[in-house]
Amino acid sequence: MAPPTPLSTPERYGPTAIALHWLLALLIVGSFGVGLYMHELPNSLSKLKLYNYHKWAGTTILALSALRLLWRLTHRPPPDLPMPAWQAQAAHATHGLLYLMFFVVPLLGWAYSSASGFPIVWFGVLPLPDFVPVDKALAQAIKPWHGRAAWLLMLLVLAHVGAALKHHFIDRDTLLQRMRPGRA
Ligand code: HEM
Ligand code: HEM
Repeated sequence: MAPPTPLSTPERYGPTAIALHWLLALLIVGSFGVGLYMHELPNSLSKLKLYNYHKWAGTTILALSALRLLWRLTHRPPPDLPMPAWQAQAAHATHGLLYLMFFVVPLLGWAYSSASGFPIVWFGVLPLPDFVPVDKALAQAIKPWHGRAAWLLMLLVLAHVGAALKHHFIDRDTLLQRMRPGRA
């Protein structure tokens, strides 16, 4: 059964969905870049700082994704634009996998951090609980999976952005307008 509350118009996502989409897009792509950069650095104070920023951004992504999922489950998205059924199914599957990875990637990062014995203090003020024990072998087992999951997330993002651009420049439909900030 479709959730009862419609988005603000039947043709567009509502302002909250649009704000969360673009804020999380920036945070996720930015965290990916910082993640790739920081782990190559030699040990130093700035590396330590970047690790903390990465962890704070990552746990913020996790919290905002929970809010976004809740919003998505209680608000109806605009109906599909006319397109071949396989394209609509591919879009729904990609969106579903993106949502899944919004949780898998940060949770693996958090588990790795806890298992390595570096608990997270969110923005230096809020200590977050460890949900796995300190265990170096476990940390080494989790570490590559955080990176692999982040790469899978980025591949999904690439496919997603490619599809959005195809709709805009080749199909020349209104898909991009549905997620564009500002008034319709
Ligand atoms: C240039 C970059 C991007 C463009 C142009 C773009 C465009 C769009 C558009 C037009 C939609 C609505 C699709 C529809 O109406 O069916 C959408 C939905 C979505 N986008 Fe993006 N997007 C971009 C980046 C991203 C990034 C980086 C992420 C994730 C990290 C992301 C995650 C999502 C998700 C999960 C949805 C589904 C929303 C829902 O139904 O709840 N997007 N995007
Ligand atoms: C969506 C959010 C996140 C993204 C996209 C992301 C992405 C990445 C990437 C690409 C790397 C480099 C991995 C490699 O090349 O081996 C990395 C490393 C790392 N991430 Fe994340 N991450 C996210 C969230 C988190 C969170 C929430 C934490 C912890 C609370 C975390 C902790 C770490 C740590 C400690 C490393 C360094 C691993 C090493 O030393 O090689 N990440 N992350």
